[in-house]
Amino acid sequence: MRFTRGAINSTKKLLGFTTTSRNMASNKILNVENINPNVITMQYAVRGPIVIRAVQLEHELAEGAKKPFKSVIKANIGDAHAMGQKPITFIRQVLTCVTDPSLMEKGDFPSDVVERAKTILGGCGGQSVGAYSQSTGVDVIRQHVADYIEKRDGGVKSNFDNICLSGGASESIRNVLKLFINHSSPKPIGVMIPIPQYPLYSATLAEYGLGQIGYFLNEESNWSLDEKELERSLSESLKTYDTRVLCVINPGNPTGQVLSRKNIETIIKFAHKHKLFLLADEVYQDNVYAQGSEFHSFKKVVSELGDPYNKLELASFHSVSKGYMGECGLRGGYVEFLNLDPEVYVLYKKMCSAKLCSTVLGQAVIDAVVNPPKPGEPSYEQWKKERDSVLASLKERATLVEKAYGSIEGISCNPVQGAMYAFPQIHLPARAVEKARSLNQEPDFFYAMQLLEATGVCIVPGSGFGQKDGTYHFRTTILPQSDLFKDMLDRFRSFHTKFMEEYK
Ligand SMILES: Cc1ncc(COP(=O)(O)O)c(C=O)c1O
Repeated sequence: MRFTRGAINSTKKLLGFTTTSRNMASNKILNVENINPNVITMQYAVRGPIVIRAVQLEHELAEGAKKPFKSVIKANIGDAHAMGQKPITFIRQVLTCVTDPSLMEKGDFPSDVVERAKTILGGCGGQSVGAYSQSTGVDVIRQHVADYIEKRDGGVKSNFDNICLSGGASESIRNVLKLFINHSSPKPIGVMIPIPQYPLYSATLAEYGLGQIGYFLNEESNWSLDEKELERSLSESLKTYDTRVLCVINPGNPTGQVLSRKNIETIIKFAHKHKLFLLADEVYQDNVYAQGSEFHSFKKVVSELGDPYNKLELASFHSVSKGYMGECGLRGGYVEFLNLDPEVYVLYKKMCSAKLCSTVLGQAVIDAVVNPPKPGEPSYEQWKKERDSVLASLKERATLVEKAYGSIEGISCNPVQGAMYAFPQIHLPARAVEKARSLNQEPDFFYAMQLLEATGVCIVPGSGFGQKDGTYHFRTTILPQSDLFKDMLDRFRSFHTKFMEEYK
C-alpha cells in the first residue's frame, strides 16, 4: 500500500514535527524527509497521543502541579501487572530457579518447581538461560506447548515441530505477516482484519506496505461476525488487492466478544472457499467470562469439520501476556502452524534465525504456563487458588464494567464476554462533534482527551481501532483493581454528565 504525501504530512503534524524541526533534521543523513514513509504513517493508538499526554500528566503531578485529580488511571492498555495484579507464585519460582540454579540446591523451592526448572535448563545450551536457543525455541518447551494444545483441543494431534516460540505473540504475528510482503505482485497483497481491530494489525500492515481490508463486526449482535459482511469486504477488496489473508481475533480485542462455534465454522468455510490463509489470534483463550460462552480453537474446529476444511492453512497465536498470568513484560508467545507449505516453513525458520532467538526467560515463562502444577504436586493448591482468584476477579469486573457503562445516559455497552476490554459506544451530541472537527480532531479523540485533562482517566478513542462512520466509541480495560475501578467510574460519570450538558 502506497501512502500519499498528504497522509504522510498529516501524520507528521500529528507527531508534532514542525517545519523548524524538519529543517534541522534534514541536515542528518537519516531524517524525517527520507525515512521509510511507512514508519511515519503507521499508528498505534494504544500508545498514541492520549497515552503520551497521560504520562506527561503523571510527571506534572509528581512535580507538584495542581490538577483537578490526584492520580492518572491508565485504563488504556491490557497490562494486568501494571494495574496491580500480583504474579503467580509458581511461574515466578520457576523463573527464579532457572535464573539462579544455585537456589535450587538450598531446598527452599517445592519439588515440582525444581523439576520444571531442571527440565528447562536441560534443554538450554550449557544448562543456562543465558545461552541462545534454537530460533524456533527450546525443544522441550515446544514439546510442552504441543502437549498443552493437544489437551486443550481434546486430543487433536499437535506436533512440536509446527510450533515456534517468540517474544510475545506480537513477534510471531509480525513474522507471519512479513511472509506475505511481495513487491513484485501485480496487485498489492491484501489482509482482511476485523473492524474494530487491535492496532498491532493496522500498524504492521502499514509498516509492511500490505493492504488493510476491514470487515465490520456487528455491534448490534454483540460484535459477531457475519458471512455477508466477509463476502462484501473481500469482493470490494479484490478490485484493488490480491487478498490472501484473513485475520480473526477471538476472544476479541477491543470488542470483548467470544465467537460462537457456528461463527467459527462460517469463518473457516469462508476462508476455504476463497483460498485465504487464516490467522487466528487466540491470546485471550483463557479469558472467557460470560455464561454460555466458550472458547473454541480454530485448529480444533478445522479438524472436526474434516475434509476438505482440514487442509486449511492456519497460523494460531497464543501469549503469556494475558490469561490469568498477565506476564506482559517477560515477552513469551508462540505460533502453531497447520498445513503450512513445508518449503515455506523452512524459509520462515531461516527468517527467524536472522534474529537468533526470542528471550529464553520468556520461553521459560511459556513452559510454566503450559506445564502448570498437576493435582497432587506440591504447588498445585496454591497455583489453582491464585489462578482461580484472578479469573474470578476479572469475571466480576467484566460484568461490572458492562453494567456501569451501560447505565450511563448517552453510552451503550455490549456484554464483555471475554478478553480484557469493553468498547462502549458514546452517543455524542452534534455540538461536541462540531467542536472536535473545528479542532481537526476525531470526536472520540476529543472526548477522550477532555476526559483525561479533567479526571486523569486514560482510555483509548475508538477511532484508533476503527469503527463504522458516524459512530464513536472508546476502549477501556477491565484491569484496574476494585478500589481503583470504583474511583475511575466515579470520575468518568461526573465528567460525562458535565460534558453532555455542555454540548447538548
Ligand atoms: C489481540 C492481541 N493480540 C496480540 C497481542 C500481543 O500480545 P503479546 O504481549 O504476546 O505480544 C495483544 C496484546 O494486547 C492482543 O490484544
